[in-house]
Amino acid sequence: MTNMPLRLRTLADLRRVLGEHRRAGRRIGFVPTMGALHDGHISLVRRARETCDITVASIFVNPTQFAPGEDLDTYPRTEDADLARLTEVGTDIVYLPDVEEMYPDGSVTNVRVEEMSDLLDGAHRPHFFYGVATVVARLFVHVQPDVSVFGEKDYQQLQIIRRMVRDLGFPIDVIGGETVRDADGLAQSSRNLYLSADERAKANVMSGALYRASCRLSLGVSVNAALAEARARIEAAGFDELDYVSAIDPMSLQDLPDGAVTPGFEGRVLAAAWMGKTRLIDNMGFKRA
Ligand code: PAF
Repeated sequence: MTNMPLRLRTLADLRRVLGEHRRAGRRIGFVPTMGALHDGHISLVRRARETCDITVASIFVNPTQFAPGEDLDTYPRTEDADLARLTEVGTDIVYLPDVEEMYPDGSVTNVRVEEMSDLLDGAHRPHFFYGVATVVARLFVHVQPDVSVFGEKDYQQLQIIRRMVRDLGFPIDVIGGETVRDADGLAQSSRNLYLSADERAKANVMSGALYRASCRLSLGVSVNAALAEARARIEAAGFDELDYVSAIDPMSLQDLPDGAVTPGFEGRVLAAAWMGKTRLIDNMGFKRA
């Protein structure tokens, strides 16, 4: 029988409780989330528990990472189910700040990770990574963790957070947690809840196409040929709009030039496409043999 995590809603309470743990020399692990938790999130909490004494998860649907017209109002909010799942996995503290706690009235301070935030997803959602970097920086200041775990599913986000931590000197070890997939390969995501049965049946084609592209790139097929085939597979599966399929350098997030990748190079293939009203993203790593 696991205990219900301590639920804290204010920065003052969080500071008091975590201050005691810190004074006792306990390592604090942190998993930020927007709720609607699935197995992917739970695996991140498990990962934090493996390396830390105290695990904190936050649930905060961050308004600054949604543009007007995006799904802020309809984003799934499932607090009771989320708390049950966080209890099962043995989370110690759940931080549930409200908007005023995260963005005190009159707040004008934001974080921009230049260059990396305007590519890939950032080219299609220009506000997005500025909202993410700003809220994660604020959450890091609130929680002051030793370790924070982010899913590789949101690969661009993970690399931007790593860069922010490096540039601003946050004393935090950022760990990437492996993507959790359904049996047919679809990467788990809170937004999968939006898919109709028919859309869900077709959605796994994206992970299959990326897997094949990653195998072909590791075998020395040229970048343009591998990506063109992945694009064609995704389009043929009935996705409505393809935002991008790219092969990138993980450090800079820049597109790889055409041609066979240099032996030993480790890159990443990523895609984003719309299935009806749902935008799905996925990515996979590869290493050129
Ligand atoms: O990945 C998410 O759920 C969000 O972007 C994050 C990191 C919790 C920031 O709001």
